[in-house]
Amino acid sequence: MAIINIDGRDFSADTLDNLLHVCLSHGLDLPYFCWHPALGSVGACRQCAVKQFSNPDDKAGRIVMACMTQAADGTHISIADSEAAAFRASVIEWMMTNHPHDCPICEEGGECHLQDMTQMTGHTYRRYRFSKRTHRNQYLGPFIKHEMNRCISCYRCVRFYRDYAGGDDLDVHAAHNNVYFGRDTDGVLENEFSGNLVEVCPTGVFTDKTLSSAYNRKWDMRSTPSVCVHCGVGCNTCVSERGGQVRRILNRFNGAVNGYFLCDRGRFGYGFTNEPDRNVTPRLKTSAEGTVPLPKSEALEILSQMVSAGKKAIGIGSPRASLEANFALRTLVGPGAFYAGISAQEAACLAVMVECLNLRTLKIPTLPEIEVADAVFVLGEDVANTAPRLALAVRQAVRSRALDLAGQLQIAPWRDAAVRQIGQDIHSPLFVASPTETRLDDIATKLYHAAPSDIARLGFAVCHHIDNSSPEVDRIPEEIQAIAKGIADALMQAKRPLIVAGCQLGDATILRAAVELARALHSDERKPGIAMVAPECNSLGLAFMQNGSVQDAFMAVAQGGISTAIVLENDLYRRADSHAVNAFFKQADHVVVLDHISTETTENANIVLPCTNFAECEGTLINSEGRAQRFFQSSIPKNDVEPSWLWLRDISGTPEWRKFDDIVQALSRAFPVFGGITNAAPSGDFRVAGSRIRSEPHRYSGRTAVNAMQTIHEPKPAALEGSPYSSTMEGYYGPMPSPLIPFFWAPGWNSGQSLHKFQDEVMGSLKGGDSGVRLLESLAAGATTHSVPTIPKAFVREADRWLVVPRHHIFGSEELSARASAITELIKPPSLFLNTDDAQSLGVANGASLKVTFDAGAITLTLIISPELPSGVAAMSAGLPATCKFSLPAWATLRREAAS
Ligand code: SF4
Ligand code: SF4
Ligand code: FES
Repeated sequence: MAIINIDGRDFSADTLDNLLHVCLSHGLDLPYFCWHPALGSVGACRQCAVKQFSNPDDKAGRIVMACMTQAADGTHISIADSEAAAFRASVIEWMMTNHPHDCPICEEGGECHLQDMTQMTGHTYRRYRFSKRTHRNQYLGPFIKHEMNRCISCYRCVRFYRDYAGGDDLDVHAAHNNVYFGRDTDGVLENEFSGNLVEVCPTGVFTDKTLSSAYNRKWDMRSTPSVCVHCGVGCNTCVSERGGQVRRILNRFNGAVNGYFLCDRGRFGYGFTNEPDRNVTPRLKTSAEGTVPLPKSEALEILSQMVSAGKKAIGIGSPRASLEANFALRTLVGPGAFYAGISAQEAACLAVMVECLNLRTLKIPTLPEIEVADAVFVLGEDVANTAPRLALAVRQAVRSRALDLAGQLQIAPWRDAAVRQIGQDIHSPLFVASPTETRLDDIATKLYHAAPSDIARLGFAVCHHIDNSSPEVDRIPEEIQAIAKGIADALMQAKRPLIVAGCQLGDATILRAAVELARALHSDERKPGIAMVAPECNSLGLAFMQNGSVQDAFMAVAQGGISTAIVLENDLYRRADSHAVNAFFKQADHVVVLDHISTETTENANIVLPCTNFAECEGTLINSEGRAQRFFQSSIPKNDVEPSWLWLRDISGTPEWRKFDDIVQALSRAFPVFGGITNAAPSGDFRVAGSRIRSEPHRYSGRTAVNAMQTIHEPKPAALEGSPYSSTMEGYYGPMPSPLIPFFWAPGWNSGQSLHKFQDEVMGSLKGGDSGVRLLESLAAGATTHSVPTIPKAFVREADRWLVVPRHHIFGSEELSARASAITELIKPPSLFLNTDDAQSLGVANGASLKVTFDAGAITLTLIISPELPSGVAAMSAGLPATCKFSLPAWATLRREAAS
């Protein structure tokens, strides 16, 4: 710990940090551009200049860049020094010579770091009177708008995109005073984290096209904290809406989860909330009139009778619905009649995850802990496509070796250029075992492409090398033994080894092998991490409720005696083969579906009840690490739309649940594992001096204009019932518990860069601790015994059939985001992937039409040759409307279709 004197006051500092980090962490205002807390320093913009004095008697001092100067004990600096202030003002003035005067029409305006820094330095008068340099803008795809004239050449964009996220299609071109940040040619940005450019760029060069399509000034939106619903990572987001329409998603910093970045699915996948054909009124299917609207009171009456005493109802829950909604359904139908609404394969995988978490002896790492792992083994999961933010963390982990080397040379980790120069192409070991190529292959030490069972066998073989008391894998080829030994050696030598596995391939033995491996690696010195990937935003929450799969529910209906099946926020056609779902609809007397989107399941239902989406209600989700996180309502739902738990309460007549917090309390009492969810966020009656927190900023200006074409009198927005938020700009905004911060703003800091004002220190946690609670950590140690794993048999290819495994893609495989128009543009057509030899054996080439016939039905797909696929294994695009009807993995015959 060091003491730094800044303008005559002493401040504590970590000697490993730089002076900019120290100043910002202590709440001091010092302008900057090129430095970013997660990207480190390169000293490119010269904006953070301060005066450094060699001792208290030194009156001359010298200008240094705060972001490039290490915090040494006894350092004296001045931010206020007139020479330093003039230097900073002239840096802005140079930058502004080419910056257009277009703030009034710039989409960044009002939330712009460049505007803030210009104000902060006092550069208020332009002396430059000559022509400005102009650039041609590029088409960069459906997410990002490009306006290069606004660039100040800070290099943040390429440092994030290339160095941090591993993208290679965005670069800096040309030289001197005419540099250009863009692609070689117009085209869609290829990296799945491109949306972060919107927040990383300190000016309006890269802006959010999805917001542009329904643009309003950034201060004219209502915002609340939320949690991404598009995978199991549970990134924290800030949802902004206007007039009932979600307009944008921003990253919401959580030091233990997503940090500063989101993936593009999470940022741009919200379009499903604004679908014109979403469910807004209850409807009933009649044999005489077809589907007719059903008044809410009648709907409740009919449903109450359907579930009344003597009639047997079952409930099918959902991994994309909140814990509270699932619990309300379970309470309505009774625990024995509640089914999880996921496939049997997925249920088996999640059961292994739950068993592992319940052991509580293995380390479940947070994303920041994953970022510093020094050897990683990924089994059977293409994380960039199933849990993208986790893949970004693994991408940072491979830099551990370079950071260690830099550390040996006394070079601090934030000296980004120096560390990358030292590291060059040196990577920490990363092993990836997957049937298909993955988006981490470019940084992998070794790839192993195999069938799911062989991936599990490799995992067990590595395990046996580490701990020879673990079962030996029989008949394993020498070459695979050598790979297993190499992986085992690397993991053993690492200080912070990490195992990653998940449910993607629907093979629980892979997860079982991963857990065994983590157990074998565990020693007094080594605390290996195991990161497990749950498929959806609340898959784990549902798994903790321990219920049967969707197939079990269908079986219960097939056995007869069930009068009503209630389906919660779930399209069953994505969970089971379509002939099984069709049979379920035929066999069930009444099927009632609660959902906000229209699906094949709502089309077939007898009664549909319109429920809220994540932006219209509160709820709790459990992410893949067992963290309970709360999302809050920002939009006020229209018509008869209600939260699912409220519909279910009103059907069951459970009057003790008067408000959302009541069901949270009931849930925490019903399951010991959910005991901690009451601490995930303060309750709805949270007030500061009697005031709710305002959900609109104090700069909000548009209330009088929204309905001007109808009336000049602006109605007051409806209240957010049971919420800690006021629905307007009236209310409290100041220090508050971190789960409640609706948006980040501080005086003089209108952009998201104000974040450091809310953190313990730069890169640290939000003040008072990050949002959410890890549920398992507060419980007593779990069982120490676990089931003895069975090592699967080696994969044997069949002569006439292929084992078809799912191949996920970040855009399209996930149900909700796939409905967002921006994402739709990037969804690839449904395809079948085969290796070259297998394709030749069928006499087909790239682009051929193949009929894929499963026991459950057939589909015709376009062939894409993927040389890495093992022989006898095919991959099929996962989760698309055409392909999601088939449960995978499954065996299929392949036949060439004649060209039509
Ligand atoms: S485009 Fe933005 S982030 Fe990139 S160099 Fe220019 S101002 Fe910086
Ligand atoms: S990684 Fe997952 S949770 Fe995070 S933003 Fe992307 S889809 Fe959402
Ligand atoms: S922020 Fe220090 S030089 Fe750019």
